[in-house]
Amino acid sequence: MNEAVTRDLLVELAASLFARGFSVGSAGNISARLDDGYLITPTNSSLGRLDPARLSRLDADFRHVGGDAPSKEVFMHRAFYRARQDAGAVVHLHSTMATAVACLPDVDAANPIPPLTPYFVMRVGRSMPVVEYYRPGDPAMEPAIHASAHDARAVLLANHGPVVSGKTLTDAVYAAEELEEAAKLYLLLRGTAPRLLTPRQVDDLLTTFG
Ligand code: 13P
Repeated sequence: MNEAVTRDLLVELAASLFARGFSVGSAGNISARLDDGYLITPTNSSLGRLDPARLSRLDADFRHVGGDAPSKEVFMHRAFYRARQDAGAVVHLHSTMATAVACLPDVDAANPIPPLTPYFVMRVGRSMPVVEYYRPGDPAMEPAIHASAHDARAVLLANHGPVVSGKTLTDAVYAAEELEEAAKLYLLLRGTAPRLLTPRQVDDLLTTFG
């Protein structure tokens, strides 16, 4: 996909997320890997009103080379791109349900949302660890995310929100949406004993759908 098409798609997907309440105000940021660098949403921009021509352009070393000033969370995105060769895009949201789970102290920090549904497993994978709290924009979060991102396509930042990678922009956005729905199901079912997908069913999904 060439850069102009990627810019337009990023703006379209961001507006869709905003329109459906996955992001409010200027929360969240989205990036995409290009052949020779990255695009990322500008800092303090609303996902609902992005301009393709003003997206921040970074070179292959994550230096700002064009467009508006980049998100203060470049480190967060860089952690995924450096840990995962398969990451073609990264989406960070403060979506309500996933962030609610990120505020619960008594969850399994290695994997707070159990395998409730196939699409959560197919899009997000086997596990999604919680990364301890860092102030937004704190570069110290990079090594912590990097360490978790080796084995996980997504992480939950404690008291902050999800960061989700995908092979493509569309994959990353779909995964962020599935994560939000899985978090909603998990919260609806808390205090009950739901039937979970078995390890064998999870293996089957990951073998079949990658
Ligand atoms: P930016 O506006 O700098 O992208 O930050 C928004 C955000 O979601 C912080 O976590």
